[in-house]
Amino acid sequence: MKNEILILPGDGIGPEVINEAVKVIKVLQKKKLINSVIRYAKIGGYAIDTVGLPLPNDTLKAAKASRSILLGAVGGHKWDNIKDFNKRPEYGLLKLRKSLKFFANLRHTCFNPQVLSSSIKSEKLSNVNILLVRELSQGIYFGKPRGVLYNKYFLRHGYNTSKLDEKAIRRIGIIAFEIAKTRKKKICSVDKANVLEVSRLWREIISDLAKSYPEVKVSHMYVDNAAMQIILSPKIFDVIVTGNMFGDIISDEAANLTGSIGMLPSASINSIGQSLFEPCHGSAPDIENKGIANPIATILSVSMMLHFSLQKPLLSKYLNASISNVLKKGFRTADIKYTGIKIVSTKQMGDLIIEEFEKLI
Ligand code: IPM
Ligand code: MG
Repeated sequence: MKNEILILPGDGIGPEVINEAVKVIKVLQKKKLINSVIRYAKIGGYAIDTVGLPLPNDTLKAAKASRSILLGAVGGHKWDNIKDFNKRPEYGLLKLRKSLKFFANLRHTCFNPQVLSSSIKSEKLSNVNILLVRELSQGIYFGKPRGVLYNKYFLRHGYNTSKLDEKAIRRIGIIAFEIAKTRKKKICSVDKANVLEVSRLWREIISDLAKSYPEVKVSHMYVDNAAMQIILSPKIFDVIVTGNMFGDIISDEAANLTGSIGMLPSASINSIGQSLFEPCHGSAPDIENKGIANPIATILSVSMMLHFSLQKPLLSKYLNASISNVLKKGFRTADIKYTGIKIVSTKQMGDLIIEEFEKLI
């Protein structure tokens, strides 16, 4: 495995937010605080347009050789009508996750007094700190068969398969329990066991695993209720463990607790020490090339990379502090603005964070 950071800007606002994150990496390289080299590769719609595939072979090869990968976003209206799943931009990301066996995705929603959600009362939010552990390698995203077919009445029907084996459930469960041991020793497992067999197996395995972690308090919640509780009483959660699709949905919901999905980073890990870091937001084609996207989620993804992949927890702390300082000074991108605050562009936000960061490192 090379000491390489593979950068995959992708589509929409991906390249814009990645630019700001790369500036942070370059500062660290210049000061010789990290010795990783940067390499760029194509993914998503951009790769479809230029190479004809959402995950070109060169990209996959480079990814397999890298310790850390930083991704912007994939997808956009331009490719919305592609019917074949294997040719869609999103397939590029899913194939990357699958091929490198990134089985656990960690999404951390943390209350930030500087950025308040406009839709939820702040007293409900103070000290909210939720770590969502999402199973990333199986479930309805990957299950076969899938497709759209005509039935005998010449009516099309779409179908997908939700499949999850007990090894994968146990594997993600262990990650969640181990993390819970280092936090409040509390896990909420989210499923839909009242309706789905796959969820009943999930609940059985998680309950069984819980016996090996007597110090961790486990609760089970149906996903519809969890979606409501995250908004109603977010403070009841600490670690949430759930499957691929439920994790995708409730992590966007939890992101809103931090004021904007533009603030939420994520890390995906495999069992041989490689990691993929990406903001939880998508390609946001509606604001593409307007210079207004929030680069903080991507810069926080670099912070996660520093902490977990490059073993530089202090630099990660400094980077988080730099972001906090910029917010404290009252600078905001449009998604986290409120009256009387200074609105800055994507690039200005990146520069302001770097200015603070350079004072600390
Ligand atoms: C995410 C995204 C992806 C997912 C898409 C782009 C395939 O929504 O990382 O949350 O659904 O996993
Ligand atoms: Mg998502």
